[in-house]
Amino acid sequence: DKGNHKHFMLKEIYEQPEVVARTTAHYLDMANGKVRLPAELPFDWAALPRISIAACGTAYLAGLTAKYWFERFARIQVDIDIASEFRYRETPMVPGGLMIVVSQSGETADTLASLRYAKENGQHVLAVVNVPTSTIARESHIVMPTLAGPEIGVASTKAFTCQLAVLASLAIAAGKARGFISGADEDALVRAMMEAPRYMNEALKQEDHIASIAKGLSKARDVLYLGRGTSYPIAMEGALKLKELSYIHAEGYAAGELKHGPIALIDETMPVIVIAPFDKVYEKTVSNMQEVAARGGQIILVTDEKGAEHAEVETVATIVMPDVPATIAPIVYSVPIQLIAYHTAVEMGTDVDQPRNLAKSVTVE
Ligand code: M6R
Repeated sequence: DKGNHKHFMLKEIYEQPEVVARTTAHYLDMANGKVRLPAELPFDWAALPRISIAACGTAYLAGLTAKYWFERFARIQVDIDIASEFRYRETPMVPGGLMIVVSQSGETADTLASLRYAKENGQHVLAVVNVPTSTIARESHIVMPTLAGPEIGVASTKAFTCQLAVLASLAIAAGKARGFISGADEDALVRAMMEAPRYMNEALKQEDHIASIAKGLSKARDVLYLGRGTSYPIAMEGALKLKELSYIHAEGYAAGELKHGPIALIDETMPVIVIAPFDKVYEKTVSNMQEVAARGGQIILVTDEKGAEHAEVETVATIVMPDVPATIAPIVYSVPIQLIAYHTAVEMGTDVDQPRNLAKSVTVE
């Protein structure tokens, strides 16, 4: 049932504040400002040699975001791979490491094969899955569910933000256990996570503005998305969503890679969507935006009020997000990039919930 929404995807986008709240409540002891994981871990974070992550598509991009968090909070090395590459690469694994697989359906063939490879190679396998009865959940040692509820739209939306919520909680727990974040830091991070649903609600208020921006985007042949730090995986997620829904060619790039190739594409017809909260790397992204502007690129900036003030370039549109703590920015900024893809697809008249050539669950490789 789509409720009063035109598509399942839109309904699922709007469900996000609620399901992210439910998911964070499952992982956080809100009264005491601590992470409280719902399952016992069969390993000691402090003794963990390494974390590996494997997943596909949007789930992979949740994993890539988590790499930044695990490295920052827990100072642990993280390898992240696309599951179809990981499974055949015969990568050596230090026994006793942690393998995290991320999957909405829990049935993705390549992710399942990666899980089995990791198990054979002495890893503790932890699954972040949305379907608790799935094969991936059954075969993993530890299951950390996302409580997104059934996701019907082929494009993953609420499962993604719930994956981010679970992975951020895990990274905070790891950081605390390894002694790299204090009790006060943990408290601040937990409180930030608890605010995410409220900020997502605020982000949803930009829908009409985004729908008007989508009119212009629907005329583009190619769209470039740029981001730095944790905004880089969100840029890639934006590009993936736009491709799969509107069939417009899109690429997500690390902003710093611009000069190493993609800048050649930029002319007056090229929309460039820049995901840039006013964070530690904002200044660096501004200089990349200037490079785009100097070549006539059409900048659509997704930022907060401070970012909008300091942008120093002319944009065709600015989508102003609430000012959010850095850790939850990827969760909150997922909302506008989903709405951009959704409205561009509606503008193009494509089948939003069932895009051509795609299946909800990829059970063959
Ligand atoms: O069920 P999974 O999370 O394992 O699926 C992984 C990908 O197939 C999936 O995220 C796909 O990229 C989505 N269509 C993205 O919107």
